[in-house]
Formats: sequence, C-alpha cells, structure tokens
Amino acid sequence: MNAATTTIPVIAIDGPSASGKGTIAQAVAKNLGFHYLDSGSLYRLVALAAAKQATRLDDEAALARHARELQVIFDGGEIFLSGQKVTDAIRSEDCGIGASRVAALPAVRRALLARQQAFRQAPGLVAEGRDMGTVVFPDAMLKVFLTASAEVRAERRHKQLKEKGIDANMRTLLRELHERDQRDSARSAAPLQMAVDARELDSSGLGIDEIVRQVLDWYRQTAARVAGSER
Ligand code: C5P
Repeated sequence: MNAATTTIPVIAIDGPSASGKGTIAQAVAKNLGFHYLDSGSLYRLVALAAAKQATRLDDEAALARHARELQVIFDGGEIFLSGQKVTDAIRSEDCGIGASRVAALPAVRRALLARQQAFRQAPGLVAEGRDMGTVVFPDAMLKVFLTASAEVRAERRHKQLKEKGIDANMRTLLRELHERDQRDSARSAAPLQMAVDARELDSSGLGIDEIVRQVLDWYRQTAARVAGSER
C-alpha cells in the first residue's frame, strides 16, 4: 500500500456469518458512492477453485497457489472465475463451509491480502468480512462489528436460500452456523474478533434501513471529526 492510498477512507464491517454484513455494506457503499469489497467471496472462490481441481482442503501450498492465481472478475453483481459465471455457485452452504476451512490457513490469507487491499480506490471503500478492521484495513476510518443472535441469523440464511429456491432445514442451518462461527473464532490466523476500536451493532431487532442509517451517522460523525482535526 502506498502513502496515497492510505488517505482513501475505508469503512470496515466485520461480524459472524449471516449477520447482514453484505446487505448493509452494499447499501452503505451505494449511499456514499464508495466501492464495495465482499472479502468472503474470495475465500469462497478459493474453495470453489479447489473443488473444481480436486485439491484437498488441507493442502495449504496448493490452496495458496489457487488464491494467488484466481482469475476473478467482479462485474456489477456478478462474479466470474476463469471466465465462468459463479455468482450463485459460491453461495452454496458447501462453498461457505469450504471457505471457512481454507480461510484458516495462513498462506491462503497472505495470498489474498494484497488483492483485498487493491479494492481501496477513491472515493472510498466499504469492506466486509471477518478481519477487515483487524488485519486488512487496520487504519479504517470507521470499524463496525455487526452481530445478531444465532436464531435471527439462521432465519435470515433460511430466507436467503429459500429465495434462491434452495430447501434448507432450520436446525441444520443453526448447527452449521454455530460450527462455522466456532471455526472462524477459534483459528489462530486472523480469528473473527471485534477490533478494539470497533463499534458494535446488534442488528437482531432492527430493520435494514435503521442499521444503514446508524452506520452512515457514525461515518459522517467520524469523517467530520477527522476533517476538524486536520484543519
Ligand atoms: O462472509 P462469507 O460467509 O461469505 O465468508 C465465508 C467464509 O470465509 C467465512 O466463514 C470465513 O471463514 C471466511 N472469511 C474470512 N475472512 C474474511 C471473510 C471471510 O476468514 N475477511
């Protein structure tokens, strides 16, 4: 990262699976005209590339190679891997579980670091994931840790899958969310944890508009404070 890019504002939104990070981050980015990074999609793409090439999910060196060599294009809402549209394929629960396994490997995380930081482009970036505020953009202007109860998250995931025509069992979803959160929080490489300077937002009882408004309010307050201290 060079000195010029570090002045570009970043809003980092981290939190557990299905806490609403994607929806909120996209809405905030749209409102501010900022770029958007869905970092989880990169880990999902590594898991998908591994599945396509029959790479074992414990072969760290081969997985890091996949991560380095990913031929990925983000085009509006669509994602292409080696020229093939994979927007829906990477959203499967299997891909999510594979992603959380490859994400535990330090060499894979290292291989994806610069690729994520390259999304920091003017006029600003909203980045969501697990380690946006702690590792990838530690100097983010605003860090939000978005949570929701496990039951609310399982319901949201259920609704999301149903909309895609995928049948899912609530009990299984709840168990898988618990297992994924457990793996994401317990790993030694960039575990899911709230940055010390993050603001926590429990979205359980809130609507999307309220959450977006809160993040935008925090961002404007922080931006005004930073501008004031630079004067
Ligand atoms: O957010 P999403 O469910 O798409 O992420 C899939 C998996 O990728 C997560 O369970 C997590 O293990 C991993 N991930 C990560 N760091 C990020 C984003 C995602 O470890 N910044």
